[in-house]
Amino acid sequence: MKRLAVLLSGRGSNFEAIADRIKEGKLLARIEVVVSNVDAAPALEKARQRGLNTVVLNSQELGKEKFEQTLEKTLKDSKVDLICLAGFMKILSPSFIHKFPNQILNIHPSILPAFPGLDSQKQALDKGVKFSGCTVHFVNEGIDTGPIVLQAVVPVFESDDEQSLSNRILAEEHQLYVKAIDLVLRDKIRIKNGRVVRSSSQK
Ligand code: GAR
Repeated sequence: MKRLAVLLSGRGSNFEAIADRIKEGKLLARIEVVVSNVDAAPALEKARQRGLNTVVLNSQELGKEKFEQTLEKTLKDSKVDLICLAGFMKILSPSFIHKFPNQILNIHPSILPAFPGLDSQKQALDKGVKFSGCTVHFVNEGIDTGPIVLQAVVPVFESDDEQSLSNRILAEEHQLYVKAIDLVLRDKIRIKNGRVVRSSSQK
């Protein structure tokens, strides 16, 4: 059974979607550890109620170096195969990312490379785009620039505000992240020249 770590900072609805699909037997994996960099993240209680191992590493108190050292040890001790950032609002340093090559996934609420960084849904509304969505990508040294695994598109309506657009995107995120994790865990994709392609056995 492949072992996952989920890293988060807040609400944890993507974490719950992953945990639910695992429970239903639709995603063959186990969540080995849930790590929050925020003490008060509501997701922590949800993870504890599911009987999962939770670790809190307060990134503000620890400082970046100590935070990443402790996180590295936690992930290596847990022998995880894949690290899933799910609303994890902290940028990891290139040296940390290099320790887990092609092992870190992130979900982002826009069609990258449009609207990276914070407040992507507001950025989309401000630009007046007619479609937005979400992206699952591998994490590289840049901000939301890593190889794209999957994307899903939603319409943007004139009547939308940040909340309504975020909700529409979030519903897609919950489906998309599980699909992407499944592809990675079953070796269905690989990275070639910085892009995600189907593994050759799939052709
Ligand atoms: C999600 O919309 C996720 O895409 C976004 O934060 C939200 C977390 O929701 N992540 C980012 O913006 C990362 N840059 P959740 O805690 O309910 O999963």
